Amino acid sequence: MFKKLPGDQVTGLVTTTPDTAVVFRPAVVRTPAIITIVIFVWRVLAGLVRMVWRHPIATAVLAIPAAVTWLYGWRVALLVVWLPVSVLLPWALFDRATFNAWIGWRLLAFWRLAWMYRRHWHAVMTISGLARHAGGRDYVPHLVAVRCTSWADLVTVNMLTGQAVKDWADRIEHLAHGFGATSCRVSVTRAGRLLLTFPRRDPLAVPLPALPLPEAVSVGPVEIGIREDGRPWRLKVHGTHVLAAGATGAGKGSILWSVIRALIPAVWTGVAELWGLDPKLMELSFGRPLFTRYAASPADCADLLDEAVERMQKRAEKFAGVQRDHVPTVEDPFVLVIVDEVAFLTAYQSDRALKQRISAALATLTTQGRAVGFGVLAALQDPRKDVLTIRNLFPDKIALRLDESEQVDMVLGDGARDRGALADHISSVPQEGAGVAYVRLEASPDPIRVRAAYVSDADIRDMVALFQMEEAA
Ligand SMILES: Nc1ncnc2c1ncn2[C@@H]1O[C@H](COP(=O)(O)OP(=O)(O)OP(=O)(O)O)[C@@H](O)[C@H]1O
Ligand SMILES: [Mg+2]
Repeated sequence: MFKKLPGDQVTGLVTTTPDTAVVFRPAVVRTPAIITIVIFVWRVLAGLVRMVWRHPIATAVLAIPAAVTWLYGWRVALLVVWLPVSVLLPWALFDRATFNAWIGWRLLAFWRLAWMYRRHWHAVMTISGLARHAGGRDYVPHLVAVRCTSWADLVTVNMLTGQAVKDWADRIEHLAHGFGATSCRVSVTRAGRLLLTFPRRDPLAVPLPALPLPEAVSVGPVEIGIREDGRPWRLKVHGTHVLAAGATGAGKGSILWSVIRALIPAVWTGVAELWGLDPKLMELSFGRPLFTRYAASPADCADLLDEAVERMQKRAEKFAGVQRDHVPTVEDPFVLVIVDEVAFLTAYQSDRALKQRISAALATLTTQGRAVGFGVLAALQDPRKDVLTIRNLFPDKIALRLDESEQVDMVLGDGARDRGALADHISSVPQEGAGVAYVRLEASPDPIRVRAAYVSDADIRDMVALFQMEEAA
């Protein structure tokens, strides 16, 4: 009935002068004031009801004292307010952790929701291009909830129908700056629903001193630093191979040394062996006595790797048909081959024969070593494929500070940077950024930010002294 037929427009025509654009006169419908007022009042009432429904506790906190003042006067209201405050204040002062868990983070979440997210939601969604205007209507993604943890705001949103995670991942910078955070990470919680993580502060901003030597003998997962959420960062080294990529000064050394430190009890009880390859002569030479086997020159490194392959194959023959998984023992220890700057042995090696031997040995170790207790932990500056052709043979990768944004996906896999692994934004100031990295955990595709503990030269010296004392005893 409202559909316009071709001839209908003619009635609204203002001009028909040839060569000028055709202009239609818009129909003006006057809305009676009463309708405008009714709509306005309806919106205010609906808003109030929605607020009470969404935030019953916050509304009660404001409404009860107001009602008591109204009914019984301000003295009674003061008493009513004072009673809970006299309980909450000491609680907050003397047991901050449980107070935060029960009340603090909820209060903060309410405040952040009202003051930051709801207030800026429409503007940020529109300007970043995540909202849509179609058929005269605005479609804005729905802000579901805000939760706070000690370091970040976790914002749950419903995407618009037809949106993809990539639409959001492409706009993490808009979102971060729009909501006053330095970064934003996007993860999927279920179909159509996302969790946006906005860090409020950076728990990894200060260097973490070397962790205490572990008491228990274990080959992993070894604790080597902390995660952004404050939990310990445990790295699996037994049953996998790990590649740590980072520009010069990114702190690859602190990853290698933290792993070595965590394995020391296993090494001195004989259930693990460390084999060090140190082509730059600058990293592992410091802890020479900790290594069962150590090589620095490319020729020695090739010999060492060939020996590792030989031992691995012997062990595989021994295990064949008997057991499928390796359990470290003194007879069959876990052997961790640690290679600092692996590209010196592969891409930058001028002796072609050596280069081929080394590449072949590394490829053999990384393809066959996992199940028989041989692991490779390698550090690398430049993660491009032509520098390390066997990059993909390392199941676990760590992205320390990288120079270019494209390198992030080379290390962590496609889409990692879009999901918030901003390894190219890590500070190059050692205090702030050395040892900071992004990793993907087994269980989830979303990258997390971590920082390795810093094992100083003095720590290494102490470790060596202790190790030698233990060996002598
Ligand atoms: N986890 C850390 N926390 C704080 N500072 C660190 C950490 N790791 C390293 N550093 C500092 O950064 C400097 C460079 O670290 P490191 O030698 O490990 O870098 P790298 O990645 O091995 O560099 P290169 O590729 O040049 O060998 C160190 O001298 C140290 O002062
Ligand atoms: Mg180094």
